[in-house]
Amino acid sequence: MCNDMTMKSLSAAELAQLIEELSTAYERLQGNNLKLDLTRGKPDAQQLALSDALDGVLAGDYMASDGTDVRNYGGLLGLPETRALGAELMDTPADAIIAGGNSSLQLMFITLELALHQGLGNLIPWAEAESPTILCPVPGYDRHFTVCEELGLAMRCVDMTETGPDMAQVARAVADPNVVGIWNVPKYSNPTGVTYSAETVEQMAQLPASAAADNFLVLWDNAYAVHDFAEPHDELASIHSAAAAAGTSDHIVQFASTSKITFAGAGVAFVASGEHGNAAIVKRLSTMTVGPDKVNQLRHARFLGGRLREHMAKHAELLAPKFACVEEKLSQELADLGIASWTKPNGGYFVSLDVMPGLARKIIAMAAGAGVTLTPAGATFPYGDDPRDRNIRIAPTYAPLADVATSLDILTLCVRLASARTLLEQMQ
Ligand SMILES: Cc1ncc(COP(=O)(O)O)c(C=O)c1O
Repeated sequence: MCNDMTMKSLSAAELAQLIEELSTAYERLQGNNLKLDLTRGKPDAQQLALSDALDGVLAGDYMASDGTDVRNYGGLLGLPETRALGAELMDTPADAIIAGGNSSLQLMFITLELALHQGLGNLIPWAEAESPTILCPVPGYDRHFTVCEELGLAMRCVDMTETGPDMAQVARAVADPNVVGIWNVPKYSNPTGVTYSAETVEQMAQLPASAAADNFLVLWDNAYAVHDFAEPHDELASIHSAAAAAGTSDHIVQFASTSKITFAGAGVAFVASGEHGNAAIVKRLSTMTVGPDKVNQLRHARFLGGRLREHMAKHAELLAPKFACVEEKLSQELADLGIASWTKPNGGYFVSLDVMPGLARKIIAMAAGAGVTLTPAGATFPYGDDPRDRNIRIAPTYAPLADVATSLDILTLCVRLASARTLLEQMQ
């Protein structure tokens, strides 16, 4: 009906008719008792099975390349071969990387807690600021926001653009000495799928030098470093090299993990800062553990060593059809209507959908009413508060392809129905 015109150009009578048609379709769906879930940004069972050979890969050989018996305590920096794996992920030399336990999120928490109360390396503690504040590019990753909330760090939003955070906003914000850090997911960002441009990476590396706070940290969560599913894949410039050139290495903290490469929750996590930052993190880790799970580290190094790209290509084969399905459905049902826009990532785990302001919450509730659970509205913003109530995170990786298709049919129907109702109300 409105293929070649935006929904906003429809007359009241046309909108009313459209609403009637869509409402009938929606009510029919409600009778189907569906139970579909697009909330989970986690690998599906087939993806996990790609790494089943981890189990048994050691075949009784527990000696690492440096002679470490991985069954025993110790080795807080991690095994050489596992740090080499981290180097491949992070585009950073292995000797600048710490291979830790199973969760990069935990390493982020430890780093922020340290920066807040003790100061990271030779930097003064954030707690000395009146109101230490972290910049949060939005939409962003909810667990970053939770870490800040838990530690009592204030958050200030900056907009994401197609090349990374809006660096003009960032530059203005860091003139405030309370602003002590910025979160980043620089490749296939959660949830927009944006990869930072080389220029943005360069600007981020230089940011600590221009920030009013002397203890400013760039938090670089490269969770999706090798998670490409389309060619040509996005290239991310090395923040390590840029920071070395800018003299800001101790102000950059990189994180990564194999959570979405092998087993989510049973992988290996990495952290890398400058010399002083790393020393402080290792010292803190030493108070918490006698050493990481090096058996798992060795398994990962043996399993992935020399074949990381090949392994990720298998994930891509499984994921690409799901993301293609999301794109196809969104384009088919919503393109050119002027009521929604969305991202088309080349990798990662999410698609970010923006609907008309004020409708995200309503649409998510409508989808739930028809049996599709989506990430709660607001989750992609600090404090769960999307000020324009318009962002919806789509996580298609875990559900089977057929469920992704059905869920998107329902979601797009809800977007059209809610938008048509709102447009009609605005006319009255
Ligand atoms: C951006 C980002 N960082 C970190 C994580 C969690 O990483 P880990 O499993 O290493 O704690 C996720 C998981 O969804 C994520 O999306």
